[in-house]
Amino acid sequence: MFKPQTLPRLFLPYINDRKDSYGRDVSLALHDGSSPDLSRKRLVVEFSSPNIASEFQAKHLRSTILGAFIGNLYETMGWDVTRINYLGDWGKPIGLLGAGWERFGSEEQFQTDPVGHLFDVYHKMNDLFMPEQVASKKARDEGRDPAEIEAQGLFAERNAFFKRMEDGDENAVALWKRVRDVSIANYTQLYARLNVSFDEYSGESQVSREIMTEVEEILKSKGLCEESGRSWIIDLRKHTGRAGVGIIRDRTGGSTYLLRDLAAVLDRARKYSFDKMIYVVASDHSTHFSRLFKILELMDISDLASKLQHVSFSEVSQMSDKLGHGHNMLGEILDQCQSAMQDSLKATPEKAALLGDTEGAEASIGIAALLAQELSARRVNDHAFDIGHMTSFEPGTGPDLQYWYARLCDILRTNPGHTDLSDEDFASLEKEDKVNLLRLLIQYPDITHSAYKSLEPATIMAYLVNVTGQLRHCLENSQDGTSPAPAEAMLYEATRIVLGSGMKLLGVKPVAKI
Ligand code: ARG
Repeated sequence: MFKPQTLPRLFLPYINDRKDSYGRDVSLALHDGSSPDLSRKRLVVEFSSPNIASEFQAKHLRSTILGAFIGNLYETMGWDVTRINYLGDWGKPIGLLGAGWERFGSEEQFQTDPVGHLFDVYHKMNDLFMPEQVASKKARDEGRDPAEIEAQGLFAERNAFFKRMEDGDENAVALWKRVRDVSIANYTQLYARLNVSFDEYSGESQVSREIMTEVEEILKSKGLCEESGRSWIIDLRKHTGRAGVGIIRDRTGGSTYLLRDLAAVLDRARKYSFDKMIYVVASDHSTHFSRLFKILELMDISDLASKLQHVSFSEVSQMSDKLGHGHNMLGEILDQCQSAMQDSLKATPEKAALLGDTEGAEASIGIAALLAQELSARRVNDHAFDIGHMTSFEPGTGPDLQYWYARLCDILRTNPGHTDLSDEDFASLEKEDKVNLLRLLIQYPDITHSAYKSLEPATIMAYLVNVTGQLRHCLENSQDGTSPAPAEAMLYEATRIVLGSGMKLLGVKPVAKI
């Protein structure tokens, strides 16, 4: 039987020595048999990936937050991580925007509000286009060939513009490039507010023609694709027994979303020699990715298919219902979080005193509020969007995590942790609430392991809620807040380390420092 002091004696110095690396397991990132410095495994994680012609949707925000979390988690486990934003910056929708620019574009309005103006142009054009789309869908549903409808009107204008882009027409490409540049500049600045950054702004436009041709050649040589009504298709039923047709080239000879994605895999494999690639994309893409992976498997290129994973999540969100639609949805969400946080801090002066009420603190805690809410739900579940609740200090919110981290810093500032304590010192940790807190801290490596396996951020979130809940008990039941005994200070230091690491995984930057 252990003496009650054994647990803290063993674990507290261990946690406090390891600091940020407690909960890490870099062996997960090693190729079998290699030594740590030689070669770490490489992960490519693709996330966020909005479409530049249209609005940034709630699903893109969720992908941004989840993708950043997955990148952090793999990095913590020692992987070499490359973060890619695969913009929807090519294809027919951009053709529609281009054709719209020719009708409604104004240089002057573009200069004053580039992103807003492009958004207006796209929407005006889309409204005009809607009846034609409805007619084409109706024809298809009734088993008629929509080709005739699609050969005229805005269908034809859109396709012609996209064809010019594909053929490298100077004006079409110049317009596309301006659209892309202003979108990236706008996003970069918004992502920075979320503490998210990318190693590469890639996108559908960046997939090379040569690699697309290479993909087509492999498909043809393996008998996987065939011509059908002037399009090139892969009939999945023939090759996999599962229903579905993948289009590789449309009847105008244009590349398709699927072809670009196939080529992008090859391109990235060469560029990054990844051991694994994760796509963080909403469940509306499940069929697309299962086809993509299946086709790659049939193409049989050096085991690539087995390295790919689609991490999907529910695309249902209450966010857009509450905020409506607009070109600056992300900016508006972030602003609303910040101003709600300002109100919440005003209503709780003792918390504001601890956390600070500067604009910077309000913004950071507001972001923590948003991240904690987004990361509390399991991926398959749709999630709430309740600004009032998420910016409150209720247990389980981002502000609450920030508050408890700040409390610990506050205690430790005047009572730093000690080393070399005796059994007698450790006796101060015998009370049940302290033992329970320590037990939770000991579980942290299991928690990070399990999150690494499931890629469920809710695992980390739920754990941190337990830790802060237990910490609250400890602090309420004693005088520790003002003058903890040395072993207690050691326990609080370990708690700060674990809480800080967990927050960092979620992408939440603690506002308080020791
Ligand atoms: N741009 C797409 C969308 O907004 C998501 C991109 C997903 N990634 C991919 N490689 N297809 O729906």
